[in-house]
Amino acid sequence: MDFSNAEMEDLKVPHFQSDAEKKSFLEAMYAGEVPIPIFFQAMGVDFTDHEYAAEAIRIGGIPFLSSAAPGFGITANDLSHLSHAERGALFLDENDRKATEQVEYVHERHPHAILGGNAMKKLTGFNRAIDAYGRSGKMDNLAAGAGILDTADIQQMQQYSGMELMPIVSSSTAARWTARVAKPIGARIRMFLVELPQFAGGHLGAGNAEEAVKAEKFDPVAIREGIRKFAPTIPVVLAGGIAYRNQIRQALAMGYQGVGIGIRGLLTKESKLDDAIIRDVYLNPRYRVVTNDRSPTGYPGRYIEVPEEKRPPEARIAYAQRAVRNCISCIEPGSCLFLQHAKDPTDEHFCIGRDLPDTRFGKRGGIYFASTERDRIMHDPIYRDAQGNPRVPSMEEMFEYMLTHDAPSMPEA
Ligand SMILES: Cc1cc2nc3c(=O)[nH]c(=O)nc-3n(C[C@H](O)[C@H](O)[C@H](O)COP(=O)(O)O)c2cc1C
Repeated sequence: MDFSNAEMEDLKVPHFQSDAEKKSFLEAMYAGEVPIPIFFQAMGVDFTDHEYAAEAIRIGGIPFLSSAAPGFGITANDLSHLSHAERGALFLDENDRKATEQVEYVHERHPHAILGGNAMKKLTGFNRAIDAYGRSGKMDNLAAGAGILDTADIQQMQQYSGMELMPIVSSSTAARWTARVAKPIGARIRMFLVELPQFAGGHLGAGNAEEAVKAEKFDPVAIREGIRKFAPTIPVVLAGGIAYRNQIRQALAMGYQGVGIGIRGLLTKESKLDDAIIRDVYLNPRYRVVTNDRSPTGYPGRYIEVPEEKRPPEARIAYAQRAVRNCISCIEPGSCLFLQHAKDPTDEHFCIGRDLPDTRFGKRGGIYFASTERDRIMHDPIYRDAQGNPRVPSMEEMFEYMLTHDAPSMPEA
């Protein structure tokens, strides 16, 4: 279980020739006998799509497809002629279709590779995604987060015996709670993923933005120790703020069995985040990463703030009307904070079903999820060309850089 002396090369997945080889590796991984290869974490609206996953496998990672709106493409159309229920149904059907296609694509290219999926409980598509991934029979692991799993969720996952459960948690209490729900129904948890709110990108597992930035509340050593008390043999992977070799080594030294990366993968040619947005927004030192409570999910979120794109109240009315008329119910309408405040022109919650797909389409003015490490990694030489202009590296280049370089100090804000 102690991999503090592991070489970076040991954190790459071996090339399997058969399902049997893969299975025996997975069992060794779950038993804590081998370090867990690097997770290429899921990033919603298909930033980490099937092609991204296939490339992550090729270079030795374990990718997670995201079920958070792989069917985002339908939002390019005006859907206002449909009823709210019809739009919601169309969206979920499209997500299922895409999720199934994506698994097939990856499996065809890498038939014996380890593949994970990601599902967020806060989203309406959560339970549909479990079935879409589970029915494929080709998903090895399901990372489930953004909400605490209940008995019915876990029972649903248990139907798919090849798809092992990995809850995403930000505290040992949440992990303990999930383990307690799983135990009476005989469900196995094979790994936990700890995601640190003070560093991660996107939605954060904290009560609000103020709490999310309190590093002392989410101490990775204390969380690891806390999980060890009730689950001494279940491997735990750390994500959030991992972008350099020494950060990986530190995580292993803290007793984690592996690490996951988000923003490092996002800022590559293979991610489906538009290259111009990467260059002009993500690699632009004028813009800073902020943490706030503007997400309609109720979770705090972390983003790059582009002050000149802030929507003034007069533009907000038209934006809200258009978003409401096209609402695809990505979050249950009763708990969507954007819908609840849509008539208030001074309200700052955004429509995630509109803004995140817009970014994915390469449009400016949407949401730019990012983690704290973005402020540091953007100064790495791989993100500049010979003239010093912003440049998007390949995933392979990024991976080799990350595994061979230690973190410089974080630039001053
Ligand atoms: C653009 C973006 C989208 C994300 N989407 C998801 C998602 O769909 N599901 C999820 O569990 N986490 C999501 N996350 C969190 C990442 O998967 C990852 O755990 C986190 O960013 C790790 O921190 P790092 O970026 O510092 O490596 C997202 C993060 C970003 C930056």
